[in-house]
Amino acid sequence: MATPSKAYIADRLRSFEMFADLGDEDLATLADMMAFKQFGKGEFILTQNEIGTAMYFLVSGRVKVSLASPEGKELALNYLESPSHFGEMSLVDAEPRSADVIAVTEVEAFALDSRDLSAAIQLQPRLALTVIGTLSRRVRQLISRLEDMAFHDATHRVMRVLLNVATAAYESSGVPIVEGLTHYEIATLAGTSRETASRVISQLTKEGIVGTKGRKIVVDLIALGTLLESD
Ligand code: CMP
Repeated sequence: MATPSKAYIADRLRSFEMFADLGDEDLATLADMMAFKQFGKGEFILTQNEIGTAMYFLVSGRVKVSLASPEGKELALNYLESPSHFGEMSLVDAEPRSADVIAVTEVEAFALDSRDLSAAIQLQPRLALTVIGTLSRRVRQLISRLEDMAFHDATHRVMRVLLNVATAAYESSGVPIVEGLTHYEIATLAGTSRETASRVISQLTKEGIVGTKGRKIVVDLIALGTLLESD
């Protein structure tokens, strides 16, 4: 796509809840601060330990937030879909990038330069509150993951990933579904092997707690939540 017009950028910004209540003029000012970026599937958008100079608003596509060990092992921290944002941590704490962010599909994003962050927050204070809210949610997710790593086995962790992803889908689209994630990707989120993830999913299918259709997994949130609590 050629560089989009300011009107297009303003229109896409409106789909982010934190900007939805901005007037046309403020939205146009904000659009002026944004640089349109495109990334191909598999491309690194951010690299761990690099100096951060911008935060990103994901307009379309999906990204993976992950860490790589020196031996090439991967730990997926999260998958993000639009509308969402990333790359804010380095701007807030002036530390290097905390993780790699990689395009899983073709990606379109708007980059907000660190020098414009204060002006953007003055224009829309909800931006600051939303960033704080996201950081807080991520800390909670990491606490829950640490708890699972310390106290629970791989089966439990795979079930937890399915429950979390399906719950997020239910909250955003009304359908409790795990969609667009391969068994390998589910396994890396759960810190286990693809074989274990596949075994757990087929066991849950047999028990009627999830239903699979192609690469979609529909989750009975109450049944899976109850099973996890009893474990
Ligand atoms: P930053 O550290 O600037 O660059 C990497 C980005 O990945 C980071 O900002 C966050 O936006 C994002 N990130 C880091 N950890 C997580 C996580 N656990 N879940 C989702 N996003 C994350």
